[in-house]
Amino acid sequence: MTKFTQKELDELNSTINSAQDALKWASDNLHPRIAKASSFGAEDAAITDMMIKVNPEFRFFTLDTGRLPQATYDIMDDVRKKYGIKFEVLFPDTIEVQQMVHEKGMNLFYDSVENRKLCCEIRKVHPTNKMLKTLDGWITGLRRDQTSNRNEAKMFEIDTQHDDILKINPIINWTWDQVWKYIKENNVPYNKLLDKGYPSIGCEPCTRAIKDGEDLRAGRWWWENEGHKECGLHIDYKK
Ligand code: ADX
Ligand code: SF4
Repeated sequence: MTKFTQKELDELNSTINSAQDALKWASDNLHPRIAKASSFGAEDAAITDMMIKVNPEFRFFTLDTGRLPQATYDIMDDVRKKYGIKFEVLFPDTIEVQQMVHEKGMNLFYDSVENRKLCCEIRKVHPTNKMLKTLDGWITGLRRDQTSNRNEAKMFEIDTQHDDILKINPIINWTWDQVWKYIKENNVPYNKLLDKGYPSIGCEPCTRAIKDGEDLRAGRWWWENEGHKECGLHIDYKK
């Protein structure tokens, strides 16, 4: 297993500036022990295109929570066809889901923040933890201006939430407009919900379109007013 020191990452963060260079470094140093986590949002679409141009063999995984919008399944197949990517599709543990819905119902997430976090933990966090145990690094579509939790994030990080593996956020400094410009200029296939007012896309029951002037993440868990708008992949709720 390859591990990095904070000093090595500081060096990478000060010398590597572009997303493409970060991906080239990942390909040269960690492939195939590194994979991209994709939820098929705009950021993931742009990074996927860049990754395939750097190394067509790069690995990709996605979490099928069982509650995704049909448009997300559609784009999964579009991307698969365009780039020839065979996504590693992760599913939640059946017994965990069965027990959860037996005790709390199918739509438990609307009942309390605690229930919502439990659902995200079982459907998203646990399968990701299992996958990341097999890797030395993962690549995400995080951007600094998405949430308060992300505004200190770096391009190369030690992921203390996941056994100190490497976390690479190639477009951490990009703005929403930059992402969109990349998609248009490179003719990148994207989730059709983006055209319908969904700049941030999660599970179907937990995502709505945003209204003019609203924050780009306002449609995620829209009924929750306080706290972090995070599912737990990028924040450790247990701490
Ligand atoms: S979330 O924590 O609020 O759900 P967000 O939708 O902003 O995350 O996505 C940020 C990054 O987390 C994505 O670019 C991707 O790397 C990862 N991610 C989020 N959801 C999934 C998913 N369903 N499958 C794989 N990766 C995901
Ligand atoms: Fe469950 Fe909603 Fe979280 Fe999806 S986003 S895992 S449906 S609480």
